[in-house]
Amino acid sequence: MIKVSRFITLDNFITKQENFHPGASGEFTSFMHDLTFAVRLIAREVRRAGINDIIGLTDEINVHGEQVKKLDMIANEIIIKSMNHTGKLAVMASEENEELIQIPSKYPKGKYVLVFDPLDGSSNIDVNVTIGTIFGLYKRVSTGEADCNADDVLQPGYKQIAAGYALYGSSTVFVYTTGNGVNAFTYDPTVGEFILSYEGITIPDRGKYYSTNEGNTYKWSPEFKKYINYLKEKSYDGFRPYSARYIGSGVADIHRTLLYGGIFAYPADINNPKGKLRLVYECNPLAMLVEQAGGLATNGKDRILDLQPENIHERSPLFLGSKYDVEECMAFLNGTK
Ligand code: AHG
Ligand code: MN
Ligand code: MN
Repeated sequence: MIKVSRFITLDNFITKQENFHPGASGEFTSFMHDLTFAVRLIAREVRRAGINDIIGLTDEINVHGEQVKKLDMIANEIIIKSMNHTGKLAVMASEENEELIQIPSKYPKGKYVLVFDPLDGSSNIDVNVTIGTIFGLYKRVSTGEADCNADDVLQPGYKQIAAGYALYGSSTVFVYTTGNGVNAFTYDPTVGEFILSYEGITIPDRGKYYSTNEGNTYKWSPEFKKYINYLKEKSYDGFRPYSARYIGSGVADIHRTLLYGGIFAYPADINNPKGKLRLVYECNPLAMLVEQAGGLATNGKDRILDLQPENIHERSPLFLGSKYDVEECMAFLNGTK
């Protein structure tokens, strides 16, 4: 399903966008070339995972106490080694590194701060289900030659200058925004290029799908339980019941939500008062994309992009998707519905 009126590669698209900004230095264009190169390398590893026998668990535990899969580590290393020498970045933060990732002193520092989840949906790696890479980009706030500090990474999401994800599914898709709409590119391995496949994505105002892990029902608040039950009831206007869709790869669930509408929710629960997803490198980039497509992203109370992160790996509840659906969900959460 191609939704474009012209054929254009991602590289050309980025370069042309830059031409619209006369003062642009070309650094962002160069950053995107490097990042999409890393994405191609990760896609190659994902495609060959079974063949190379790299599927499976390592013995290492990541900073969240979860067992890290080999591909998570490979993807993490690919991004770090593709980006740390380019002179575009000042610092990075990854789901797989407890601390900030500083630029080695032998390489020049740049002005950007990259936050990323190298592989999202890792429980799906072994079963050939879609996984992805999520990133957000900020400008450095600290100055000087010294290493960057936490303030560079702990910026509220509205300060992102770009955000996006790559999806390693039936095809490899790269979706990004620079705050001027959302565009998607599909990788064509026969010509070795990402090609524009959806231009100016807009999320429907209301969808037919809800996406949440219902195995957690017993842990949910009564308000959220009531909302999900409501979505499953038949309504006279024919809008309900909604259909359930849950892949368990946040990036894939949100890709579907972006294109088809509806709501994705990972709420707080009795065991996890801040939910599961990470604010800095999962919620914020996804929230920027969804807002840019005309949708909403909240933690149930406040806009995700307005939250001030306190640490790199902090979690946040996430309710994101079509405007109507997220507003209705919030009405249930605050007891007005
Ligand atoms: P990651 O693989 O980077 O750790 O992220 C997994 C996340 C996210 O992709 C998904 O939305 C969520 O975990 C699924 O969690 P549950 O298995 O608890 O539903
Ligand atoms: Mn993740
Ligand atoms: Mn991950």
